[in-house]
Amino acid sequence: MPKVIVFGSMNMDLSIDAPRLPAAGETLSGSGFITAAGGKGANQAVAAARLGADVRMIAAVGADVFGEELAHGLAGAGVDTTGVRRLVNATTGVAVILRTAGENRIVLHAGANHALVEADVVADLRRIGEKGDVFVTQGECDPATTEAALREAHELGLYTVYNPAPARPAPDDLWPCVDLVCLNETECQVMCGVLPVDDVTCLAAAGRLRELGAGCVVITLGAAGSFGLGADAAPSRVPAAPATVVDTTAAGDTFIGALVAGAVRGMTLEESMRWGAAAAAIAVSRLGAQPSIPTAEEVEAAR
Ligand code: ADP
Ligand code: NA
Repeated sequence: MPKVIVFGSMNMDLSIDAPRLPAAGETLSGSGFITAAGGKGANQAVAAARLGADVRMIAAVGADVFGEELAHGLAGAGVDTTGVRRLVNATTGVAVILRTAGENRIVLHAGANHALVEADVVADLRRIGEKGDVFVTQGECDPATTEAALREAHELGLYTVYNPAPARPAPDDLWPCVDLVCLNETECQVMCGVLPVDDVTCLAAAGRLRELGAGCVVITLGAAGSFGLGADAAPSRVPAAPATVVDTTAAGDTFIGALVAGAVRGMTLEESMRWGAAAAAIAVSRLGAQPSIPTAEEVEAAR
């Protein structure tokens, strides 16, 4: 089986329930405080590993307790962490999350996630990447490093998956290096100027991204499911699986982990979208990012 290489962020999430947003200068009492491993890169690596893929992580954390705990947790999920650098001149990435009435409000400290340089990531890819492997990256690391990594992975013959989250416009010549782009509504609007709200606008957005050079396009629509446009198949519309929502953190990352694990396991795009919907429905029914991501056995049992 080809392997999955994730270049992306690792964060410690510090999250708390707040009755409402505090006003300027106000202190509110919260509840349910937890620290949980997160970061889109690490979440996607954990999801792909729990869903049966052989996963290598390329990332950076600080030489602090959060970094140690994150690397340990990733290894515990079965991810190879040889490529996780411990930097002495940076702190581990942190996300401060306020959970208010179903919506998360997040402030991110990128820290070590922005300290990995192009040369290091490119060297890692050349060392471990083999033709046919799947490469995945997001938008939480340094933009120049992320773009260089996508170009290098494409050059090496890897199947590249790009989750531009948070989104920022990409140079036109990056798109032909992307085999599969997976984005939510807001990211889609930033990346191609079309807000996908229904089948017609999803098709328009996906068509635009294909025109720019992306291979396949998957747009996630929260509780409304997902829309996919493959290289040579008709568009797919996959509903979300029913769920009792506890915490939507990591829904998208779990879904992407399934797309990626599905790709190395030889699934069609639509099969992996259905698998992702089932996996993400479990993740939203549990608290936290990585702790909420299910295994392949749990997903099969729920289907
Ligand atoms: P992101 O977290 O990146 O914004 P989405 O919110 O679009 O991603 O969610 C990704 C996928 O997770 C959706 O396509 C859907 O299958 C699933 N999902 C998200 N929210 C829910 C929900 N409330 N109930 C069930 N499934 C959900
Ligand atoms: Na969750």
